[in-house]
Amino acid sequence: MELNLVRQSAAAVSADAVIVFEAEGGKSLAGVLPVQYESGEISGKFAEYTLVHNVAGFASPRVLVAGSGKPEALDSTKLRKLISGALRTLKSKGIKSVAVAVHAAADVEAAAEAGVVALWEPDLLKTTGKEPEKAIGRVLIAVESTDPAVDAAFEKGRVIGTALNTTRDIAVEPPNVLTPLALVARARAVAAAAGLEIDVLDQDRMKQLGMGALLGVAQGSAEPPALIIIRYNPASGPTKDNLGLVGKAVTFDTGGISIKPADGMEKMKYDMCGGAAVIGAMQAIAALKPGVSVTGVIPAAENMPGSKAQRPGDIVTSLSGKTIEILNTDAEGRLILADAITYAKQLGCTHLVDAATLTGAIVVALGHAASGVYTNNDDFLDTFLAASKQAGEQMWHMPLFDEYLEQLKCVYADIQNIGTRWGGACTAAMFLKEFVGDTPWVHIDCAGTAWLDDAKPHMAKGPTGVPLSTFVHLALNWK
Ligand code: BES
Ligand code: MN
Ligand code: ZN
Repeated sequence: MELNLVRQSAAAVSADAVIVFEAEGGKSLAGVLPVQYESGEISGKFAEYTLVHNVAGFASPRVLVAGSGKPEALDSTKLRKLISGALRTLKSKGIKSVAVAVHAAADVEAAAEAGVVALWEPDLLKTTGKEPEKAIGRVLIAVESTDPAVDAAFEKGRVIGTALNTTRDIAVEPPNVLTPLALVARARAVAAAAGLEIDVLDQDRMKQLGMGALLGVAQGSAEPPALIIIRYNPASGPTKDNLGLVGKAVTFDTGGISIKPADGMEKMKYDMCGGAAVIGAMQAIAALKPGVSVTGVIPAAENMPGSKAQRPGDIVTSLSGKTIEILNTDAEGRLILADAITYAKQLGCTHLVDAATLTGAIVVALGHAASGVYTNNDDFLDTFLAASKQAGEQMWHMPLFDEYLEQLKCVYADIQNIGTRWGGACTAAMFLKEFVGDTPWVHIDCAGTAWLDDAKPHMAKGPTGVPLSTFVHLALNWK
């Protein structure tokens, strides 16, 4: 798909269809579309789409009037959804080229991102029934404004959209294809194309270093684990601050010996979405060049039962030196993250954000509306949440009360890997906190937000790319 910026008005731009916006109660096209306006067919209500043909004064043969609702309620997130929904509507009609007519630079960013993200489909491996004839090949972002900020806004939206699709392409791959070593290959390809440094620790190196928590999770699988490190530094060299992005990449989570029920287990191919979001974020960061050093750390493993698998009752020694009693092998994400977090600190990260499809409990708490976030540093959380708002990724601050740590107290080892039935997302976060120490840290539990179970008007079923855009905005905002 081609995405281009053109300095043209909605009327002048030429495509199979042009998307224009109408605010609630607005009358901007009432002169040329009297029937639609007088009948109330076009009311400007949010996400109302009206396709009209051969409108006087428009070079394009079709105009899709997209209701943008109340102007004061329209932010960049809603605009992105609105444009994405419009593009998917036109795609379903077999339209091949679309122009999106916007006015301000901020809208150009939203339009460019939507232009890339909206048309992604999870059908990489379908060989029939793809309806390739129903694919938009060209999206034009049309803007008349001569504001010099327009070019940078277009580029930022395009880069973030493209990175989101990289993450989704990786995340959607089935678990027989996307093994930990296949993930390494994807990460290497992204790093090479972006000009980023990449290091990969293999199983032997992890043994030498003493990553017992990560190795314990991987030992039941025939697929060896890997720890991927991707580095970005500004052109002027490494900075004093080094932002560590740590992403859980369990390429398939059967639960291990504490095996999961069969129903819905296939969704555990998405248990690497945190890691895939870090890889995509590094791709975007390399292109947008923030002024802070960023280090991506991705522990990759497959959680399988088997004769070599870790058992409930096993005690492992983590890289930090802390011993962990494994009470449930399905609480594996926190184990691989414990070693990855310790390693990120050893690499010199001064701030840490981790993303993980960590618990079913966060989905019970927040549904699919928001990721749960936890912190040991409220100032860093404020900075982080500001970035999440710009990204349009909804996040909700969850607590780390001392009571959760009580639940992890263990007689046989320093800590145990699960608490009681209740507050499971909080005990998981508390477990991570024990390995983070004093480094400013935010943990994102994106188990409810990293993928869509069913297609939405603005987005295909499958991985969403969350929280990639928050990562990128956090780095770009760095002071
Ligand atoms: N990957 C799962 C969490 C998950 C569940 C993500 C549902 C998305 C949807 C994680 O490894 C896990 O199995 N967590 C357990 C923890 C429990 C054993 C303490 C859970 O949430 O049930
Ligand atoms: Mn699990
Ligand atoms: Zn898991």
